[in-house]
Amino acid sequence: MRARQQAEPALFAELVALLRGRRPANATPSLRSGTLPHRRLDWTPVTTIHDPNLRGFASDNYSGIHPEVLAAITAANEGHQVSYGEDAYTARLQEVFAHHFGEGVEAFPVFNGTGANVVGMQSMLPRWGAVVAAATAHINVDEGGAPERVAGIKLLTVPTDDGKLTPELIDREAWGWGDEHRAQPLAVSITQSTELGTLYTVDEIRAIADHAHGLGMNVHMDGSRISNAAASLGVPFRSFTRDAGVDVLSFGGTKNGAMLGEAIVVLNPDASRGLTYLRKLDMQLSSKMRFVSAQLVALLEGDLWLRNASHSNAMAQRLRAGVEAGLADGSIRGVAFTQPTQANGVFATLPAGVADRLRESFRFYDWDAAKNEVRWMCSFDTSENDIDAFIAAIARETTAAA
Ligand SMILES: Cc1ncc(COP(=O)(O)O)c(C=O)c1O
Repeated sequence: MRARQQAEPALFAELVALLRGRRPANATPSLRSGTLPHRRLDWTPVTTIHDPNLRGFASDNYSGIHPEVLAAITAANEGHQVSYGEDAYTARLQEVFAHHFGEGVEAFPVFNGTGANVVGMQSMLPRWGAVVAAATAHINVDEGGAPERVAGIKLLTVPTDDGKLTPELIDREAWGWGDEHRAQPLAVSITQSTELGTLYTVDEIRAIADHAHGLGMNVHMDGSRISNAAASLGVPFRSFTRDAGVDVLSFGGTKNGAMLGEAIVVLNPDASRGLTYLRKLDMQLSSKMRFVSAQLVALLEGDLWLRNASHSNAMAQRLRAGVEAGLADGSIRGVAFTQPTQANGVFATLPAGVADRLRESFRFYDWDAAKNEVRWMCSFDTSENDIDAFIAAIARETTAAA
């Protein structure tokens, strides 16, 4: 890396000299012939420079790209396609979303989940609008204030036990319409599956949507892990989104095997305005959109989305069951679960000091360090061996601590 940093100024000087029509005395002919001057530069070729055996439970975005998604990117790679979404893959993606959500929906591919949330919600609200959300929502905790700063949206947050809103919880912040002193609560945002690894049932979502609509509010869903939710509920996407009253959806791909790519899916065209312009304005319009779309098509055209999500959910269940069995037979001590495991995340408290020792072998995040609460996430490529090795490490460290 050091050699590379030192080499870059030299290359830059050479390029500047060439642009000015001069060649420095030590220039190689290679720049002229269109190739980089390998002879004098210590380039590291792009090859595997990380440890591919490193495994962990930090996030479902630590994993790589599913091979079938990678193949789809390659398949989309030849020749030229119109940029900014007028390509064959983005057209195909519209058909794929229509298959899953019904005719009349429109999908807007974006780079990431934060972008999907921010741009999608911005399209739902006037300048004076506010969104009611759980205090633990990603839009509140982990988006760097982008909903407020980029979209200009006031978030009205409500504490919850399990990351889930209810009509009653929504009412704590859904008030003050017509009061010029209060940001107007005009939308509700829910996350499915939630940031705490829990799930809304279809009926719970319908109750929230009916309540919100009755108050003149629209419903946004952060579906960063929507495939995990659908796999776990065992129902089609449509049943707990469009048919349950969700108006605008952030559809996640990254956490389910894509390299990058999500889509804002407008389920109710009356609830969203200006996405055509907002996506560009908010820097989420990809020029080479075909590669984002091809990934989502690869996930959604067949059953790859379901295979990946079912697998990561099953690995979370295996982890939980293994720890529970260890607690029952005494091989694991002092671990308590803080949430039900309904998707691909496991939340637990550990005896003091154990998390850091475990992290010497497996990376994962504290969730609430004050309570020694941690989050363990499983991914599409988490293996049974990963889980079993982790359970063995938990047994080792918790018994050593006891
Ligand atoms: C619930 C939820 N929403 C959205 C996101 C999107 O994040 P990003 O912008 O990193 O793709 C994440 C990522 O961790 C998430 O957990």
